[in-house]
Amino acid sequence: MNATRKAPSLAAAKPTAPFFGFVDVYANATNPARAAFVARTFLAKRIDMKNILPLSVGAAASGLLYREHELRNRAERLSAATLETLLNAIDANDAQTGAHVRRVAIYALILGKAADLDERTLRSVERVALFHDIGKLHGALSDIFHEQSKLTPEERRAVRTHPQRGADVLAPLSAFYPDLGKGVAAHHERWDGSGYPRGLKGKRIPFVARVVAIADSFDAITYRRRYSNARSFAEATRAISAGRGTQFDPELVDLFLTRPVQARIGKALREANMPRKKRSTNRRRGETQSVPDITFRWRPRSLEPQSQDRQP
Ligand SMILES: [Fe+2]
Repeated sequence: MNATRKAPSLAAAKPTAPFFGFVDVYANATNPARAAFVARTFLAKRIDMKNILPLSVGAAASGLLYREHELRNRAERLSAATLETLLNAIDANDAQTGAHVRRVAIYALILGKAADLDERTLRSVERVALFHDIGKLHGALSDIFHEQSKLTPEERRAVRTHPQRGADVLAPLSAFYPDLGKGVAAHHERWDGSGYPRGLKGKRIPFVARVVAIADSFDAITYRRRYSNARSFAEATRAISAGRGTQFDPELVDLFLTRPVQARIGKALREANMPRKKRSTNRRRGETQSVPDITFRWRPRSLEPQSQDRQP
């Protein structure tokens, strides 16, 4: 009995699914008639490609999104590392200024959050607060700031250059942080126009600089300076209140004087006065912190006051 091979049925050669059309053609390669039929069927149903196209586009888009996420992640790490390096430079030059700018940043962020600022503006406030005195990293100015005798008129004039010097130092970052240099340059401007270096008045003073000005003055009052002992929280609050509409933005002063803000500022001041915590790393043994991973690490250290620059 001759076993005759059954001719393949064309009906059985239907592609099972649009995507598998090519697979079907390949699988039927030993049967040209069947393969041709499958290929024709598949090509005739080009509309089925519409089902494939979204999948391909989706996969490509996911790849691009992942790549963009990676690039952004890297840019954020670089930004955090750059800012942390600058802060390290301030510490290395003058630990007291390093502690001062961190406290100012904490107070400024409390006020900024109470003003319901968006995250972007809050980060701007944080940067201006941390780098507002970077212009003091200047040999001659540094000596003047640490001089124990009374300032001469000439020295006073030199001190008044530090906001613009700071803006000049930060100028290369202006493409990335356009508000930084402007805010730093304006942190000694006064609401009534009697400040320096430009004598800006009212809302012509950048908003972030107005926030930082209040925080800066609060810290200047509550910490011992060259000619003044540290004064109490209540005295500092009265001084800020007295500067309403002359030195400071009146609306921000009103906010500063509200009960919740006062409570938070008072808590931050108490924390700043706590004994310094031991660092978790031992630099003598060469243990160092790893590079910043996205976060700009300054807040934990900001709670470590420089006890030697404070009155008992
Ligand atoms: Fe300053």
